[in-house]
Amino acid sequence: MVPDKAETGRIPAHVAIIMDGNGRWAKARGLSRSEGHRMGLKATRRAVEFFANRGVRALTLFAFSSENWQRPKAEVEALFDLFVSAIEEELPELREKGIRLRFIGAREEFPEDLQARMAEAEAQTGANDTMTLVVALGYGGRWDILQAALRWVRESGDAVPDPAGFADFLSTAGLPDLDLLIRTGGEQRISNFLLWQAAYAELCFLEALWPDVGDPDLQDALDTYSRRQRRFGGTGEPRDVAHA
Ligand code: IPE
Ligand code: IPE
Ligand code: MG
Repeated sequence: MVPDKAETGRIPAHVAIIMDGNGRWAKARGLSRSEGHRMGLKATRRAVEFFANRGVRALTLFAFSSENWQRPKAEVEALFDLFVSAIEEELPELREKGIRLRFIGAREEFPEDLQARMAEAEAQTGANDTMTLVVALGYGGRWDILQAALRWVRESGDAVPDPAGFADFLSTAGLPDLDLLIRTGGEQRISNFLLWQAAYAELCFLEALWPDVGDPDLQDALDTYSRRQRRFGGTGEPRDVAHA
């Protein structure tokens, strides 16, 4: 593991992934969509290991969106079962690797056994600091902004938030700024993921369906990221810094 690379700027501190394409992967093989999600979980394991080994500080994975509730009940239930067993099975390894697990999203809508597993996993990994693995479940970027606004109003009265202060109320508070947002599966859209957080993230769209994604695809995304010039509204010339 090479954690110090995260400070060089070539390795993003915070990567997020829209893990898309499980259904199409399964359909192409005559399998059920749930089979696709099961194979997607294997790709998720590979991705967690890949980014943890490269010194990424935070990895945020989109596992279930606010809008995914619209899917057939059987698919949603199979996904919840998969989340419950995945948390149970992966927890020992996450603990061993020093990975902290954190969930973001409207979790109160989930079945109680899943909520209990989520809380337990967060408690058992809360002191870990190798990498934070954020799993977005029941998450929507609009939900996040609205819940932050509601808390801001309740807790701050009339004070007008600045962007940095407001970010402390988002579900991603305390994480590094999002540097790289990857979407697999060929679609080029954000699908209500990290709307606020993606303001200056580099976007990388991969054709591969999520269950097929492995280290070479993820390395491609990192290589693409390291070739991008990030300007944050400036000119990209060093003298920008003098005005920062
Ligand atoms: C992404 O794969 C996983 C979830 C949304 C849970 P999809 O299930 O959206 O796969 P496609 O896009 O139908 O291929
Ligand atoms: C985004 O994928 C949500 C997750 C990967 C969890 P979707 O498959 O739900 O997105 P759309 O419907 O194609 O925009
Ligand atoms: Mg999809």
